[in-house]
Formats: sequence, structure tokens, C-alpha cells
Amino acid sequence: MTGRSLPLQPGVAFPLSWVRRQFPALTSDPILFMDNAAGAQIPVGVLDAVTGHLLHRNVQRGGRYPHSLAVDAMVTRARQNVAWLVNAERADEIAFGMNATSFLRLISLGIAETLTDRKEIVVTDLDHDSNISTWLALEKMGATVKWWRMRDDGGLHLEDLLPLLSERTRLVACTAASHALGTFIDVAAVARAAHQAGADMLVDCVHYCPHAPIDVALWDCDYLVCSGYKAFSPHMGFMWGKFDKLVALPTFREDFIPDRPPHKIEAGTFVYENVAGMAAVVDYLCSLADELGHEGAGTRPAVVAAMEAIKLYERSLSERVHAVLADCGATIYGLADPRRFDERAPTFSFNLPGTAPAAVVQAMADAGIAIRDGHMYAPRLMNRLGLPLHEGVVRLSLVHYNGVDEIDRFADVLRGLSLR
Ligand SMILES: Cc1ncc(COP(=O)(O)O)c(C=O)c1O
Repeated sequence: MTGRSLPLQPGVAFPLSWVRRQFPALTSDPILFMDNAAGAQIPVGVLDAVTGHLLHRNVQRGGRYPHSLAVDAMVTRARQNVAWLVNAERADEIAFGMNATSFLRLISLGIAETLTDRKEIVVTDLDHDSNISTWLALEKMGATVKWWRMRDDGGLHLEDLLPLLSERTRLVACTAASHALGTFIDVAAVARAAHQAGADMLVDCVHYCPHAPIDVALWDCDYLVCSGYKAFSPHMGFMWGKFDKLVALPTFREDFIPDRPPHKIEAGTFVYENVAGMAAVVDYLCSLADELGHEGAGTRPAVVAAMEAIKLYERSLSERVHAVLADCGATIYGLADPRRFDERAPTFSFNLPGTAPAAVVQAMADAGIAIRDGHMYAPRLMNRLGLPLHEGVVRLSLVHYNGVDEIDRFADVLRGLSLR
């Protein structure tokens, strides 16, 4: 593997060989890695940032000596880099922590304290359970949950949301991209509808982040949670909120923590080396933009250029995966019309008629191919698809370092199974 590149746009090829050279795990291990929605590999610059931190400044912030000052400087830089990644107006709207789920819990507990006469929370049956259970848990605190149901095309349609919104709605919580089906959601339209009803909008950006540009200014959402480890950093999470919303959000903090964002969102110490890694993800995207001919673009334009190129390249991966699955007679869940593939990431959930998902994934594992089976931490979605939780689906999830020759190896194994 895997120097073959696909046409990106007339005259420009996606620099796949360069990309793959940046990810040491892809060349040091023969496994063909297509389980990226569960956590992606990291580029060498991220690895260097993590080890550099541990080697040279593995100390607590807030001291007067140079190593401690360097940690403060690293965190400040990381906030700015992540602010550019999501297009935040201010770096202090970015908070770091363990993972997306703990941020969802933190926000939901704050919302629970401010329910007043608006007590309804809209959730979807497409989301990861992380962005459902946390809201259902508010029912015992007086909230009412309203369900925005997915349609057969794997999408959430605005016409289905509008009747759920009223002067009683406090918040709409939904994903920007389905981690199971790959569908993108029109976040800007959801936020507009929520705001027209006087409600807030929270977006789970975990699955979207590695696939397309995030733009909280354009989307005009109110809160956004993300896991860095799905987007090429080590295990960590970050969140963004509109500054005035974060100021108003009640949070738990120790007495010595200022009641201001981002500190009021960050109780305790987070994992500094992994935050250093997340900052380096943004540097990696800037280097990719350089490779694409955008040298000197500035960080935000470079991030957008890189993510637009990734999105375009990944569309061609989706087309190839779809052709393979269709050829093998697989049942594809969600969006399966290639003309609409700019509305999805190359994340496919499917089943092979007559073969259990676990058997498909075991055969792949035996052939050195890493994919995943099960309920994808989305039990409500499995119910919606009429699938037993103990079986679920087979999920293949690609990112921009995957190539068509990898899909072809996957196809060879799948074809063998479909002919049995
Ligand atoms: C869409 C989505 N939301 C939320 C989560 C939970 O993220 P975390 O593990 O960072 O809590 C995941 C994890 O797979 C996810 O895919």
C-alpha cells in the first residue's frame, strides 16, 4: 500500500502517499486499518508533540519556572489552534478534557439547572447514545425528551424537527455526522430552527471532525463537543461554546477556579501531553494544506483548504465502497445513492445477507483487516433499523489516509464471503 491517488479536482491529485508517510502506525504495522470511527491513527508531528511534552515539560501549570511557563504557553497555543479548527471567535471558548461524553454530561447538568419554563429537550434516534442518555437522565430533573426520528435515507429532516419545536423547547441536541451511517446533518439549518423557537442547539461533532470543515460561526450553534482521538490526536476531548452561553452555564468548580470560561469548564487537571497532541493535529492540517499548494495561507484558511480536500477525496472512497457493497449484495443502511455522497462520510454500516456481522468481521480480522461489528453504541438506531442489538451491523469507517487499493483488499474478502 498505498501510493495510488485519486483525482481530487481537475489537475490536482490528493497527496495520499505524502499523507500515509505522516502516519507511522500505518507503515510499521501490516494491519489494514478501517476502524477509524472508533479512533484514528496519529501523524508523526502529533507523536513528537506528545513525547516532546513528556520529555521536556512534564510539570504542572502555574509555576514560575520555565518548564511550567512552557506548559501554560502550550495550552494557550492549543486553545488558539483548536479555535481555528472550529472557527471560534475567541480561544477562551475552547475547553479541554477527557472525552466528548464527559463534556455532554457537564453541559447537560448545567442545562438541568436552568430549565425554567422551557423543559423540552429534542434528541435524535440517529445519535451515539452518549448524546441521548445524558439528556434522558434529565427527565428525573424535570425535563421532557422529544424524539426527532431518522428517515430511511439515514438523514434527519428539518420538516420532522419543526413540529417538535415550541416555546417549551430548551435545547436541540444532535450530531453533525452519524458515526454509524456516515450521514452529514445540516447543522446550520437545525440551529436556525432551534433559535427561531428560542431554544439552544448543541452539536456532537465527534464523527464529523475528521471528515469536513467545522464552522461554528457559519453554523451558529451554541455548544459543540468533540473527541480529539477520532481526529488524529491521542485520547482527549474538547468542547466549544458561545462565550455568553458558557458564562451563563452553571458548572461544578473548586473555589479557587475562576468562574469564567474556559476555567469553569475544566475542573481538575486534563492530560497536557494529549492537548499538545491535539494542537499538533492542526499543524498537520496546515502541512497538508501546504502539500495542496496553499503555503502561507494562515491557519484557518489552511485548515479549511485541507478539510475541503479531505472531504472531496473521501467522497471518491465512498463511491468505491458503495460499488463493492452493492456488487456483493450487501444491505447498506442509510444513504446509498452515490449522487448524494457529498452528504456523507466514508463510514458504512451494512450486513451481508445470510452471514452474521461477527462472522464477516472475524473473516476480515483473519485476513488482517480491522473493521467492527455490533450496535455501534447506538441501541436506538439499531432498533430503528430493526436489528438485534447482539448482532447489529458491520461497520467500515475510512479516513483520508485510506486508499482504493485497501478497499479492493476488503472487497476480495467480502466477495469470498458473499459467494459462500
Ligand atoms: C458520534 C459520537 N459521539 C460521541 C461519542 C463518545 O465520545 P467519547 O468516547 O469521546 O466520549 C462517540 C464515540 O464513539 C461518537 O462516535
